[in-house]
This record gives sequence, structure tokens and C-alpha cells, in this order.
Amino acid sequence: MFHHVKELQFNARVSQPDPRFASLLLEQFGGANGELAAAMQYFLQSFGVRQSHPEKYDMLMDIANEEMSHLEIVGATITMLLEGVNAELQEAADKTGWMSMVNSKGDKEEMFQQAMTNPQFLPITGGGPAFTSSQGVPWSASYIHANGDLTVDLRSNIAAESRAKIVYERLLQFTDDPYVRESLVFLMTREIAHYKMFESALESIEHNFPPGVRQGDPHFTHEYYNLSNGASARGPWNEGSGTWNEGEWSYVEDPVKHVIETQGNISDHPIEGTSKTMEEVERMNAELGKKRKEKIKAAVGTGENQWSSYPQKEVASPKKVQKSQAGKSD
Ligand SMILES: [Fe+2]
Repeated sequence: MFHHVKELQFNARVSQPDPRFASLLLEQFGGANGELAAAMQYFLQSFGVRQSHPEKYDMLMDIANEEMSHLEIVGATITMLLEGVNAELQEAADKTGWMSMVNSKGDKEEMFQQAMTNPQFLPITGGGPAFTSSQGVPWSASYIHANGDLTVDLRSNIAAESRAKIVYERLLQFTDDPYVRESLVFLMTREIAHYKMFESALESIEHNFPPGVRQGDPHFTHEYYNLSNGASARGPWNEGSGTWNEGEWSYVEDPVKHVIETQGNISDHPIEGTSKTMEEVERMNAELGKKRKEKIKAAVGTGENQWSSYPQKEVASPKKVQKSQAGKSD
């Protein structure tokens, strides 16, 4: 269950209203790489690992909740940056908040002009955040990546944190407000921390590459196709061992010739770059598949099942259904 704590995780403050920056910051509220997307992504991913990987469930839920806390900070900041817009809409003649910041009719118009960089702020939200991007594009579940394979999901999360980090870094270039900058630096830094958490979690999974169980056909795992003319760049992505633990890249200098000679890669051509054989791969696939199945079977209950225990004193899901305390267990 969720429990709301009224104190923000980071004390959001602003020096003065700034509708233009509020509009830009909306990107991190309802945009593709924003806090809502991050919170929903980790929340969604957590269901599938509740019983199979309870320790990763705990981490995903903690980070999802932190992203919700960040969403709250961003929403609070946007609202404060729009201070006065709401009041102005209620009573145009009333000299409240925002109006006290401006000296003349011209200044007021200038402020409205700034708010109009995102027209939603005036007629639709009335001076608050909305689940849209800074361009007014409605938030979409298509921003969410959850594949049900933990290694895939963790890699998606590392990418999501990278994107969120860089958006905050760029947003920092558009505001001089020291209070707002302080919040942005905090939020940006937490993305760095989350990146490391997901990376460390990924590394804690044995056989985390390739994703899934199947190892891939060794005829093709280590091949690099030189598919453009002119000068070719060489580096760890196409020479030496790169990040392979075993074998090294096989550089196909002339892919057209290679494809014709191998009849479209189906003829019995030698495996290059790796000492793995097809037999070995088949054996690994079967072994890893069996191991994974057993692990999940042992962790996930069948038949009667229970998500949490009361109180939840262990990280793992209880599986065993807790009977009623009334003594009338059924
Ligand atoms: Fe994050």
C-alpha cells in the first residue's frame, strides 16, 4: 500500500515566478523521460519479480517510490513557478502573488506571454502541472519499457536514467534561479545514483548476457560487418575481444562476398571469433534453461499463494497463505 508523507524528499523552493521555465520543466513531469515515466516503469516491472527475485522487487519498488517523490518535487516547483497565474485567472483585477512581482501592465503581459509558451498552463491547468511534455504532448504508456526479463528491464532502466540525467543537465542551462537549480542538481544526481543501482543489480545476476536463456548461433555472435564504403574505423567494437569474455571480433571486410560465398549465411561455413561450437551452445541453452526454471519454480508458489505476509518481516514473498488469526483457519 502507499502512504503519503507531506514533507518533500528535497525542499523545493523558487526565488520568483518563471512561467517560461515552468513550461520547460514540464518535460520532466509528463514527458517521455520524466519522473512519471520512470516511476511507472519500475512499478510495472516490479510485479514480475516479486516472487522470483524478491530482492530486486524491493529495489524496484524503492526506486519507483523515489521517482514518485521526484514527480512531486517537479510538480511543486512548476506550481510555484506559475504562482499567480491561477489567481490571475480567478480574478484578473486582484493584485495577488504574481501581480506583486510585476510593476506595470507591460510586465504583467510579459508574464502571461511567457506562460503562453505552454498554452495549457492558462486555460487547461489553470496554473499547475499537467501530464504532458513541454510541448503539450499527452503522457503515454508507450514510454514504458517492461519486458519481463530482468536483465532486459535493468538495461532499459540504465538507459532511462541516462536520458533523465541529461535532460536535467540541459534544463540547468535555462534557469538562474539558485533555488530551482538546487532542486535540479539534486534530481539530476539521484538519476546518477539510480543508474549505479541498476547497473550493480544487473551485475549481480549470473549469466546476464545475452539476455534470456539462448546463447545465439556462434557463427554470427562475433561477426562485424563492414557495411559502408571509404575509410573504416576500428576499435573495441570490431577488433580484439571488446567486452566479450571469450573470443574476439571477426571483421568481415567484404560482406557482399561473404554473403554470396555462404549462400546467405546458410552454408556450412566455419565459426570465427569464438571457440564455441553449436553443440556447446545447445548444451548451455538446455542447462541454463533448466537452472532458470528450477530457480523460478522454487521461488514462485503454485496453487495457494500470498503476495505479502503480515507483518512483512522477510524480503521474500511468503507464498504460503497465512490463515486467519481468529482461530477459524479455513
Ligand atoms: Fe531516477
